[in-house]
Amino acid sequence: MRLTDTFNRPLRDLRISVVDKCNFRCNYCMPAEIFGDAYAFLPNSALLTFEEIIRLTRLFVQLGVVKVRLTGGEPLLRPQLEQLVRELAAINGIEDMALTTNGYFLAEKAQVLKDAGLHRATVSLDTLDDEVFRQMNGRKSGVAEVLRGIEAAEQAGLTPIKINAVIQRGVNDHTILDLARFCKERGYVVRFIEYMDVGNINGWRIEHVVPAREVVQKINAVMPLEPADEQYRGEVAKRYLYKDGQSEIGLIASVTMPFCGDCTRLRLSADGKMYTCLFAALGKDLRDPMRQGATDDELAQIITGTWKRRDDQYSEDRFSLTPRKHKIEMYHIGG
Ligand code: GTP
Ligand code: 5AD
Ligand code: SF4
Ligand code: SF4
Repeated sequence: MRLTDTFNRPLRDLRISVVDKCNFRCNYCMPAEIFGDAYAFLPNSALLTFEEIIRLTRLFVQLGVVKVRLTGGEPLLRPQLEQLVRELAAINGIEDMALTTNGYFLAEKAQVLKDAGLHRATVSLDTLDDEVFRQMNGRKSGVAEVLRGIEAAEQAGLTPIKINAVIQRGVNDHTILDLARFCKERGYVVRFIEYMDVGNINGWRIEHVVPAREVVQKINAVMPLEPADEQYRGEVAKRYLYKDGQSEIGLIASVTMPFCGDCTRLRLSADGKMYTCLFAALGKDLRDPMRQGATDDELAQIITGTWKRRDDQYSEDRFSLTPRKHKIEMYHIGG
């Protein structure tokens, strides 16, 4: 049986958040004014254990998942993450396993993660300018640690290395070219992400968004680009190749060019709720049924029922909907 939602979209990608904590306080995700040092993140007892994550992942794979991404908060803050990676790598049917991290702890972890079976790493880095970076991540750390993490990931073979940069008007848009040039020279695939209205606390306004088109024009004027074909159906990033054949960039334009039509992504929060959209208000709990003794069949039924009813296309409807009062925050589901 092929599992599809109300728009005939199959379930293919699973994004697993392994912890909601983070050592950064990015202004677009966990603003430092709200998330102070004493902020109460989930207690350990609320987090899915590795055993529970593995059990659910097996079920998701049986229902169509072929691609798994580990996210947070900051996933490297989950102790023994390599143990989870090792167990995931042993599940038949997972073709691609990636990690999205802020890179801060990556230098010490890259090789063990690779050895455990992780395929590749995507590192968030919004700018190469220390001052701008500090302003955006709400912490004192500059870019040096992150760059060390990226280099370690490259050396360990967690490739292709992708770099995610959220662009905000008047904040880091003047540093786009530097980042593009740096990634081009090193063969990293940088993806410029339009700032999104995820959650309810980042104070998002459309004026803060730099449209992907503008980013392409800016780079193309100095380092000529040409559009590339999709690598797979429903690819999140629109790709452009440099005309000189050296590397590529991606644009993630959820605001100006939504890509809900082919969205096959399911998100599992660290406390075991399934979210069928990045902008969902509610998640479907799997943890409590599991802890109360649900069988695999019963869990599979909850998953199947939820996916069959799925009708999310938030980014397509963004400007026609009445603003949602409650949306899940990014640090719960990791982007
Ligand atoms: P690849 O597996 O390398 O192709 O990754 P990807 O292109 O899916 O990118 P990644 O997982 O790194 O996601 C990058 C960013 O794109 C996320 O952090 C989000 O900001 C955004 N994004 C990813 N998936 C979705 C989605 O389903 N909807 C929306 N609106 N944005 C998304
Ligand atoms: N808009 C766009 N991207 C975001 N991310 C987090 N919050 C937002 C937002 N409001 C991205 C981060 C990281 C990934 C986990 O999600 O930059 O790359
Ligand atoms: Fe942490 Fe990532 Fe959120 Fe930044 S975007 S605060 S690095 S979880
Ligand atoms: Fe998928 Fe929701 Fe993003 Fe649309 S807005 S691509 S449905 S996660």
